[in-house]
Amino acid sequence: MAKKESRRKSGDKTKIEKGTLRRIFPFYKPYKGLFALDLLSAFIMSIAGLVFPVLVRVLMYDVLGDDFKWAFLFQIAGIMIAVKIVEVACRYYMTTVGHIMGARIEKDIRMSLFNKFMRLPTSFYDDNKVGELMSRSTTDLFDITECTHHCPEEIFIVIVKFVGTFAYLMTINVELTLIVFATIPVFAVVTYFYNNRLNRIFRQNRKKIAELNTHLEDTLSGIRVVKSFATEDLETKRFEKDNEDFVKIKRQSYMNMGGFFSSITLFSSIVYILTAVTGAAFIQKGHINAADLITYLLFVNTLLGTVDILVQFTEQYQQGIAGFQRYCNLMDTPEDISDKPDAIDIESFDGEIEFSDVSFRYNDGADVLNHLSVTVAKGESVAIVGPSGGGKTTMVSLIPRFYDVNSGAVRIDGKDVRDVTLRSLRKCIGIVQQDVYLFNGTVAENIAYGNPSATREDVVKAATAAGVNEFVDKMSDGYDTVVGERGVKLSGGQKQRISIARLFLKNPPILILDEATSALDNESERMVQKSLDRLAEGRTTLTIAHRLTTIKNAERILVLTENGIAEDGNHKELMERGGIYANLYRTYEN
Ligand SMILES: Nc1ncnc2c1ncn2[C@@H]1O[C@H](COP(=O)(O)OP(=O)(O)OP(=O)(O)O)[C@@H](O)[C@H]1O
Ligand SMILES: [Mg+2]
Repeated sequence: MAKKESRRKSGDKTKIEKGTLRRIFPFYKPYKGLFALDLLSAFIMSIAGLVFPVLVRVLMYDVLGDDFKWAFLFQIAGIMIAVKIVEVACRYYMTTVGHIMGARIEKDIRMSLFNKFMRLPTSFYDDNKVGELMSRSTTDLFDITECTHHCPEEIFIVIVKFVGTFAYLMTINVELTLIVFATIPVFAVVTYFYNNRLNRIFRQNRKKIAELNTHLEDTLSGIRVVKSFATEDLETKRFEKDNEDFVKIKRQSYMNMGGFFSSITLFSSIVYILTAVTGAAFIQKGHINAADLITYLLFVNTLLGTVDILVQFTEQYQQGIAGFQRYCNLMDTPEDISDKPDAIDIESFDGEIEFSDVSFRYNDGADVLNHLSVTVAKGESVAIVGPSGGGKTTMVSLIPRFYDVNSGAVRIDGKDVRDVTLRSLRKCIGIVQQDVYLFNGTVAENIAYGNPSATREDVVKAATAAGVNEFVDKMSDGYDTVVGERGVKLSGGQKQRISIARLFLKNPPILILDEATSALDNESERMVQKSLDRLAEGRTTLTIAHRLTTIKNAERILVLTENGIAEDGNHKELMERGGIYANLYRTYEN
């Protein structure tokens, strides 16, 4: 018992909140017509399923009766064929159009999910794994879709068939009908029990597969690290273990599945035997005749099929609603960083930046910035130095509102960044970081990311300004060379220059360079620096760099420590002052 309890807790069951189901209805709205037809098909199909045994009974009465007529036999045969054709047509409609409607709903839900992903703040992605988010937009959505069109159909079919069968059989013989129906609850309980257990195991299955995939993704993404540390064997062993666990869980689920299917078969047989034997006894006593018994047996077949559908329904419903609940939870994640209702759209900024008494901490962590105040004039070039982990990256992340201040304000041209639209704010800021993210596409496409409406001419101009032409001209496909996933086919300096070309196209008044050249060797640093200098001309520029030689020539240097801006001046002034910067510089020189 205790073991069972703990397993239940570890199986990550999503708690279904009240009102979740209601939130799915709006997704049906655009497909009202299709959905109504889908349900109508389910209805007709169920009725057709019920009519068939009735026709068999009529036929049997005719055959076994005294005044048998061939013409009647052919008539019934004709009706039977017609009923079957209608049933088949309805099934065809349900499996095609019903599924297509499901896919349309899935498309709509996926789109709203993607839009949400685009709106969620950076902090959301600090706390969530990409692999998990991926699985949400695949497996969860699949479950939701299956549920959206199957569940209503199934409910419909089950109700029509149960009620129809019961009503019809009651007209033949009340006692036999009650006996047959008395077995149904037992059957339902057995299947429900197994089904629940199977569901739990299926959930663990999925979790295991998700883990395997995440593991694989992680290893493949870091394949260069694996190879450089020659840890292939270690990785293989670790993967092997996960892979073994997979079989364990699968084994468990198949054991249960075996139990499930055989108990269904066993139980069906019992119901058949019960009906046949009791029915025979009833014939003997003259309560019913042979034609009625055949009808009963056919209806038992329909009923057992209906229970099967009911079980499928519970499973699909549970999975679908759990997936939908996770979707709702994600949709309910607050978008702390979004436009205020009265946010203003600003066409162009001059680029004066002011930090006014800014304090900031990540989530519940300690303060990273403490009452920081500093102003950077329009067009000024400022370097920020300080100890690692001192908050330099954090400080500049507040300007494009990747995070919002806890108190104080960041202003551009005197306007609080929270009062302008994110679109206009981020349009005026260009960022170059140490690691560049290139999308899998061509060099030209990656540069055009800076301004999607740019012409090929604009792209080449920007590329030339950034020094991209120096290496692209040597490539066989030139600007149409594919850079590979994340730009693996390019050197660090080349990638960096492409990211600079993007910014020439974007042409923002404010520039943030965070360790842009730190990962490069001297030669490529020199080249990238040249491009950066060209880019920085006439723009307000904040440069963060570990190599103090890069910074030495800055007009103004800020030293950021735990206690805010400790020193502020140019290289010469700060060296004369003999404080933190002078110390850093001397250590650096040695
Ligand atoms: N996304 C985050 N979530 C929580 N804490 C963070 C996050 N990013 C940074 N921190 C913490 O904030 C502090 C400041 O980090 P930040 O990256 O701003 O330092 P930095 O001055 O840029 O350092 P470096 O010179 O090494 O780049 C560190 O203590 C770090 O652990
Ligand atoms: Mg940093």
